[in-house]
Amino acid sequence: NNPPWPAYRGYHRYSFAHATMQSRLPTILGKAIDDATRTLNEQSSEDLIVDLLECIKRMDGLMIDLSGNAKLRPIIDDGEADVALWNKEIAKYFQGNDFMNAPWLFAEAYKYRRLHECFSTSKYWQEYDVFYRQKSDTFARSADAVFELSMRFAEPFQLPKDATPEENLETERLMFLELTQVCLWGNSTDLSLLINMSEEQIKALQATAGAHLASTEGNILGNHMHRLWEIMVETREKTGGRVDFVLDNAGFELYCDCVYADFLLQSGLASKIHFHGKRFSWFVSDVTHRDWEWLLNVMVYGNLFPNATEAEMESLRRLGRRWKQYEKEGKWVYEQHPFWCTGYTFWDLHSEAPDLFLHLSKSDLVIFKGDLNHRKLTYDCAAPASTPFEQAIGPMASAAGAPRVVSMRTIKSDVVVGLGPKGDEVAKKLDREEPGWKISGKYAVVLLSEGRPG
Ligand code: F6P
Ligand code: MG
Repeated sequence: NNPPWPAYRGYHRYSFAHATMQSRLPTILGKAIDDATRTLNEQSSEDLIVDLLECIKRMDGLMIDLSGNAKLRPIIDDGEADVALWNKEIAKYFQGNDFMNAPWLFAEAYKYRRLHECFSTSKYWQEYDVFYRQKSDTFARSADAVFELSMRFAEPFQLPKDATPEENLETERLMFLELTQVCLWGNSTDLSLLINMSEEQIKALQATAGAHLASTEGNILGNHMHRLWEIMVETREKTGGRVDFVLDNAGFELYCDCVYADFLLQSGLASKIHFHGKRFSWFVSDVTHRDWEWLLNVMVYGNLFPNATEAEMESLRRLGRRWKQYEKEGKWVYEQHPFWCTGYTFWDLHSEAPDLFLHLSKSDLVIFKGDLNHRKLTYDCAAPASTPFEQAIGPMASAAGAPRVVSMRTIKSDVVVGLGPKGDEVAKKLDREEPGWKISGKYAVVLLSEGRPG
């Protein structure tokens, strides 16, 4: 049940695995310790302070393990639903492995689970999210792109009354393609790569979500968007459609996902949307339930943007109110299965989380957002760039009941597949001409697998 290519590991110096395991993860953990210390200094109750100090000590211990390349130990039973899955995987595959020689994907996920354990074993701080401040902060610093979208999309989507059905379909098609790109490029602002971005840097990245879409389509190296449109129209005619988003990052990316999901509902391309988030803080910026609620509520009630005009604020409130209404009516459903925060790749989804697999198999389209989900779909291994996507995702394409899947991902790590028959040449040329193209987030893929009805 494994792909024929080797998975990336921390000691592979030629890959981003090495830089991540060696320096990015300790930096991220250091910032997490700073955040908890800041919170500590804000407390007045001795019980809370003493308990939080213990959490910080455990984080220091994790830092020693990580930088000293310790062996991976089992996760402490903190009563969470995922402990058994973690320890089964460690016992079965990674006994005796350390942070550097375990597969990168597993070791990196394991670090976030160990970080969670620092808090989940405490008395008062079980829900504490060391990345929460950063996540909300970055959204607050995304004003330009946020209002560009809200000013355009607060008004409900309507087709012109005097147009022919063909013209209307074309309007919808163009809108669909545009918003698919908004949703895709919303993924370039994740916090794990861009620790301490300046406002200018955020703006430059998010500019893509605005006006420059035609030119950015050229940067989508494997592009099944047009086939995706055909499928959406077919589904609309048949069932009205359920779409699932396996979410990636909170804040601006989640906002873009919601703009897209809103359009899918309004246009009738979908009638119900399920959003899948994480149970605890994960890869710095991934969406938790608190992030989800925060976004919708801050849009309606908050005052995050001191320089915004009243019209801009009202557009944001309108959007937020509409989205909250979808939730009330059950058209938008937020979920968080424990499997999403394990070290398993999605090659094991059908066997390790059969309930989740069955649930997803009832969807008309499962959209996997972002780089980490892409790594998990493809087993994070060194497959050639010409490998067809359906082959690269193994059982998620071929198991009975596999849903239709699309991966929308800006490329931020080594694994690149689905570039077509000439893919290997394309990749080689980029290696020569633009070293770093696999981690810059400048390029992307939108790759589709048709699934296999059960
Ligand atoms: O640490 C590396 C990584 O897992 C990369 O896959 C990517 O750079 C980042 O973390 C997460 O990106 P995303 O938020 O798009 O999944
Ligand atoms: Mg992420």
